[in-house]
Formats: sequence, C-alpha cells, structure tokens
Amino acid sequence: MSNWITTEEQTQGPCPVFQKKWVCRELPVKAVLNITALGVYEAAINGKRVGDFILAPGWTSYQKRIQVQSYDVSDLIHIGENVIEVVVGEGWYASPIPGWMIPEKEQHQAQRQTALNARLLMEDSHGKRTPIRTDESWTYHESRIRFSEIYDGEDYDANFAASWEKNAVLFPDPEGKLIPQEGELIKEKEKIAAKSIFITPRGEKVVDFGQEITGYVEFSVNAEKGDQIHILHGEMLDKNGNFYNANYRTAKAEIHYTCCEGKQTWHPHLTFFGFRYLKLEQFPGNPKVSDFTAVCVYSDLRRTGWITSGNQKLNQLISNIFWGQKCNYLDIPTDCPQRDERLGWTGDSQVFVKAGSYNYDIEKFFRKWLHDLSEDQNADGSVGSVVPNVLPNDKPSAGWGDTAVISPWQIYQTYGDKRVLEDQFVSMKRWVDYITHATKHRGLWTGGTHFGDWLGLDAQAESYKGASREDFIASAFYAHAVELLVKAGKVLRNDMTSYEDLYQLILSEFRQAYSQCLTQTEYVISLEFHLTENPQKAADVLAQMIENDGCQLRTGFIGTPYLLHVLSDHGYTELAYTLLLREKYPSWLYSVGKGATTIWEHWDGVMENGDFWSTDMNSFNHYAYGSVIDWIYEKAAGIQHSEQDPGFQKAEIVPHPDPRLGFLNVRLKTRHGLICSSWKYLDREIRYEITCEMPAVISIDGKEYHVEPGIYTFWSQRG
Ligand code: BGC
Repeated sequence: MSNWITTEEQTQGPCPVFQKKWVCRELPVKAVLNITALGVYEAAINGKRVGDFILAPGWTSYQKRIQVQSYDVSDLIHIGENVIEVVVGEGWYASPIPGWMIPEKEQHQAQRQTALNARLLMEDSHGKRTPIRTDESWTYHESRIRFSEIYDGEDYDANFAASWEKNAVLFPDPEGKLIPQEGELIKEKEKIAAKSIFITPRGEKVVDFGQEITGYVEFSVNAEKGDQIHILHGEMLDKNGNFYNANYRTAKAEIHYTCCEGKQTWHPHLTFFGFRYLKLEQFPGNPKVSDFTAVCVYSDLRRTGWITSGNQKLNQLISNIFWGQKCNYLDIPTDCPQRDERLGWTGDSQVFVKAGSYNYDIEKFFRKWLHDLSEDQNADGSVGSVVPNVLPNDKPSAGWGDTAVISPWQIYQTYGDKRVLEDQFVSMKRWVDYITHATKHRGLWTGGTHFGDWLGLDAQAESYKGASREDFIASAFYAHAVELLVKAGKVLRNDMTSYEDLYQLILSEFRQAYSQCLTQTEYVISLEFHLTENPQKAADVLAQMIENDGCQLRTGFIGTPYLLHVLSDHGYTELAYTLLLREKYPSWLYSVGKGATTIWEHWDGVMENGDFWSTDMNSFNHYAYGSVIDWIYEKAAGIQHSEQDPGFQKAEIVPHPDPRLGFLNVRLKTRHGLICSSWKYLDREIRYEITCEMPAVISIDGKEYHVEPGIYTFWSQRG
C-alpha cells in the first residue's frame, strides 16, 4: 500500500496543510520523522518547525530519485495530544518549469499533483516502536499560503482560517525511488539589512539591499486587518533610477500579503527570488529601512577560499563572484536565480566548477547533482542542456553535455576522493561514446546542434553565438572529454587502450581539419586542450590578436574560463593581468564600474550609454564569467597541485606577482590542510609569504624549493 497522500482536488492555488493528531501517554525516548514530498514542504510538530531545511526535499530528477529527510524530533513531542502539520507547495516539482518555453496551458509539469509521504517512528523505553504513517486518516485543509510557485512568488493571507477539513486521499507511488538525503541542506545562511528606501523619478517606492541575493525578504509591518502588501523584485534600476525587472521575463516574482491586525513579521516559505531591489507596489503606513531584511538562502556549503588584493575593484569582483556562487548553488548549480529559468544548465556548471570548488567545499553538492545527471542521461548516452532535465525536445551541445566528464574530474582533482569517478565513470564513458556514434566524421564531432561560444563578443548581430566554429568547439571538447576519460579510467585502473587510440585519432584529425584558428576562443581551447602542434607559436598569435584588438577579450562562455590560463602558461602573464584589471568595456571590471554586486550574464548587460542589453536574455546574476577566479588561485597566487596529487596532497606554489595589483593574499583550505600564498610589492623588492600544511614545491623566480609543512618567506628583486 502506498504511503503517499494527496488532496481530493488539484492542488494549484492554496497550499494544503496535511495534519495528523495523536495522543501520547508516555514520552518516547526517541522519535524520528522521515519525510518527503512531491513539491516542497515545511513540517511542524505541536507548532514548532521541524529542522531548518528550506525548500525541502530539494531538487532532484524526481522521476528517478526523491530525497527523504530524516529528523530527530524527540524534543518536539509531549504527553497528551500531539499534532503534526505539513504544508506542501508546488516547488520545482509542480511549478511550470521551464517558464520561458511553453504556453501555460500546455505545461505538463504545472498539471502535476503535489503529495506527501511521512513516517514518524516513536520508540518507548521498552524498545517498542509506534509508527505514524501518512494515510487516509490524515486530514488536510487550506493553509494561509494562498499560492506559491517557483517563478511567480507567493500569496499569503494572515487572516485566513480554514472552514473545512477533509480526509487525505491515497496517492500512487511515484516512479522515482526514495533515497536518503544526499546533497547539502538548503538553509537560511545570511541576513542583510536593507540599506535605503527611496522614491524613484517615476514615483515608485523602492527598497535597496545594496547586494543582490537569492532568498526572500522578511518584512515587519504594523497594519490594520485587511491591509494589502504587494511587492515586486528586481535586480537593477534603469539609467534614470527607476525600478526595472523586465529581464525576469515571464517570472512574476511577486509577493501578495493580506495583513492581520497589529504588528506582524513575515517571509515567504515555499519559494525564492533573486533580487537586490523591492518595489513596494502596496505597503501600509510609512515603511522604514529597518522593516526589511533580505534572507539569503542557499546550500549549506563550507567556505574554503579567501582572496584580497591591493585593487579595490578587483576585490569587488571577487565579492561578486562569491555572491554569484551563493546565489546559484541552491541545491543544484543553476544559471540564474531570478528569471523564468533558474535551471541546472550543464554548460554553466562546467564553466564554473573549478572556481566553485576552490571557493567552497562543493564535493557533496556536486556528487548529488552528478547522480541526477547520470539518471537523466538519455538512452543514447547524450546529456541534456539542463539537469534535472526538464526541457522538452532538447539537443545535446558540446561544452554543455561535457560537464558529465569535466565536473567529476574536477571534483576529483580538487578533493582527491576517487569515489566521484567510480560513481560517474559509466556516465562519462556513455557521453564520450555518444559523441563517437553521433558524429558525421570519425575522429571529430561534426554536425549536431550546439550553443557554440555562447555570448562571445565576436558574434554576428542578432546572434547569441560567438564567431568560433561550432564543429571546431565540438571536436576540441570531444578530444578533451576523451583525454579526461582516459585519465579517470587510469585512476580506476581500467584498461583505457581503446580510448587512448581514439584520443590519438581525434588529435590527428583535429590537426588536419583545423590547421588554423580563427578566433580568440579557438586559440584558447586548442591551447588549453593541448591540440595545437606548436603551442608557443599559437599563444604568440593569440597574444598578438588580443593586443591588435586593443587588449580586449572577445570570448564567450567557452573561451573565457581558460583565456588567462593559456596566456600565463605561455609567458603572457602581464597581458593576462592587463585583461583582468581592464576597467573599460569589455572586461571583468567594467560591470564593477557600473555598480554590479554579482556577475553579469553579458559583458555588457548594461551598455556604456546606460541602456540595458536586452530584456530577453539579460541576467545580472550568472556566474559563468566569474570562473576567472580560478586563475587568481592557480596563477596569480600560484596555488596548484599535480594531477598525481589530487586534493593537494602535495602542493605546487608558483606565484605570479604584478606591480599593478600591489599585493595579493590568498588562502585555500584543502583536504590536506591550509595553503596561504601572499605577495607584496615593496620599494625595491617583492616579498612572498607562503604557508602550507602539506609538503610543497615552491617556485620563486624560476628557483624551486622542496619544503615540508611550514611558513616560508622569500624575497625577489622588483623587475
Ligand atoms: C541560460 C544559459 C545557458 C544558455 C544555453 C540560457 O538561457 O541562461 O546560461 O547556458 O541558455 O544556451
């Protein structure tokens, strides 16, 4: 018999509260609640919230896997009558996801019925266990949450009192198997007080938090019963200083709240928003700054990286990168937190995985998401553009599906635990085999539908794809994926001969087909993936090309993450710094100059004249270009390890100082201890201070020092 319950009618609209009362004659020595939902839930026993997991049970490929949370609730139960209440909202399961694609009526997902599965197990002092399971004896009624959905927001009526109660209805077991909680919990991680309230030229009342966040607002109000609150969310003000959120597209991202009498404090419960500004469409009385707090909600990740430099704008960029990650690591790696997407775009995930793995400990977070990726992999081995795969008619793209190989390898490299490779190896292989079977030309990946060098600046007008050839990118990523697969296979002691042969074939076909690179991104990836016959010559041409372009980058999602790396790997660190520290458009610091507090999707999300790029694709919280931070860890501070020492078992520290930065302090907590790498320009010298809690090879001015764990200071002449 199923343990799932639901409501008699469709659950769109008011969120149901499922309820069960029982009498307890003896306090249990232990009580555990195992619970999950199709939708998102919040549970309470005797009016006290169970746990602090926001948006539980999180987002997995629900047709395949549904996480079950287990809470020790011993302290919440008392002698006498007890009540458990669980409110269930639509969440990712039943919201119309993706919001941007299909007209509302046709959205299959929005037709889904939410459901609950709970089991409370109480154990008495004699070891006797009494279970309470979700079944038809549970009742339900409408909650004060009158509407809740991922993109559109939440409506709440503080006066609502349910006038009826019905018995729950059994719901058939869903396809997805129940699994114990695998990922990190999503939590309220930080609170930010509002910075100001002001009236815009258009007369709108706007609250500014000074920082874009993902989560929700908590507001306080002293109201009369029935007063209305209506709040809109936005990331930006337009060039005239007016509220702007046309870039949220079809996501309404709004709050409707009906007040009860007197003082009250509230925040949404079963949804989230990406925002810096609130527009108070309706708000009783004279709201004060202190009435608003932004609650930042993201996966409970432990921070592992810290960077400060002598350049304030770079420090702001670094802050923006960290915020970009916090805002978009909400149970799965997403593209953005605000508009009608908020999806696990596979390309974005691989572009940022290295950076993300230095900033925070994301091992558990990624391993869970990669399990979903394997589960969602198609029968032919192809990997979708988003995971969980909610896109109909999706086509696999190079640079996106490749996260199947790139991400497990990176997680292994950063943390050194090969279980991620064991888990993902079959999936990695299936992706590579998919390409081998799908291509029109043996040894290259030709044909197919790709996103190309997404948002590259050399794109033709009206196109989102940079000028780099799609077959070139696809074939280069094919080579890269096979190379990583071979490495992973060797770690697992598998026979990889046939893939080694395949790699050689791709290499020679690639070199024959692409004797010349045409764009910055083509040079960058052929260098990064070791495909060029004469790397130094290729790097010289790339550097020249950038200089001829007035030291401007032209790269999009594909080329940008590796651009500075290939420059400094081939003697062009100074040029890499020039690009990093450039303030004029196009550059990383351009958005900082325009007041960004997170990373923009486009290099010119706000153009030089203050206009927005466009409304149809213009997120101000897309972390992809924030991947540049891995160059700061690995090259500027020089914190690296060899592939044979994953997890920084042994460190290789090769700092690359630059006088324009003045100083740099970088700390990285690795699985094998802390590494700090600092350098500072003094009058005549550069002083380096390096701490490592593992053996290391430190290289200063080309001289190598093999050292034991300790603190080391070096000096070199300013060049
Ligand atoms: C997303 C991206 C994604 C891209 C793929 C966009 O709509 O926001 O970040 O990678 O589509 O084309």
